[in-house]
Amino acid sequence: MTTPLPGGDRRTGTASVTTLFVTPEGRKLRVRGVRERDLPELHRLDQEVFGEHAYPYFVLRQFYDLYHEDLFVLEDGQAFRGYVLAGTTPAQRRSWILGLAIDEGWRGHGLGRRLMAESLRRLRTQEVREVWLTVEPANDAAIKLYASLGFTRVEYGADYFGEDADRWVMVLPLPAQRA
Ligand SMILES: CC(C)(COP(=O)(O)OP(=O)(O)OC[C@H]1O[C@@H](n2cnc3c(N)ncnc32)[C@H](O)[C@@H]1OP(=O)(O)O)[C@@H](O)C(=O)NCCC(=O)NCCS
Repeated sequence: MTTPLPGGDRRTGTASVTTLFVTPEGRKLRVRGVRERDLPELHRLDQEVFGEHAYPYFVLRQFYDLYHEDLFVLEDGQAFRGYVLAGTTPAQRRSWILGLAIDEGWRGHGLGRRLMAESLRRLRTQEVREVWLTVEPANDAAIKLYASLGFTRVEYGADYFGEDADRWVMVLPLPAQRA
């Protein structure tokens, strides 16, 4: 089910609200775009999921300034339960997945896959031709998810994010779709 967001907000006017999941208690988890006032809650979730590797608030703020059109959160009316963020360099038609997280208590229900699908759907409409990301070599869940979406490893980045912070670099080509 997809319905347009109520209009009026320049920054979220193109986003949609999509129900992804209904809990046994009837709570709906929805995907939507973000507003500036959502940043503290996004920061809370990012810290909860990534701990010391979470983005500092000022970095999230700047990502928002640059890439808010490709930043989606999963919410249940009480809190954010997941997010996905992509950053695009239009001249290269290349995007990077800069963040993907599902709250621990909500994992294993297909929500990470759905958030990625939403992000990739959006990137296709922007004529992005390659999506890149990095992932920790020991992060089996994320690697399996990305591989199942068609991402392949193109580099083992030793010390990619500094000493002892190796990362796989993975890429997904997004061929142009026929009209
Ligand atoms: C990676 C993450 C986003 C997956 O979200 P999720 O909602 O639990 O994943 P889904 O339920 O949509 O599962 C999608 C696929 O991921 C893989 N997967 C998910 N959990 C897995 C697990 N515990 N072990 C192995 N594979 C797993 C499977 O391939 C699964 O597909 P399948 O259900 O068809 O087998 C989530 O585990 C997370 O937020 N982890 C912490 C943050 C993180 O590592 N982010 C990625 C940084 S690169």
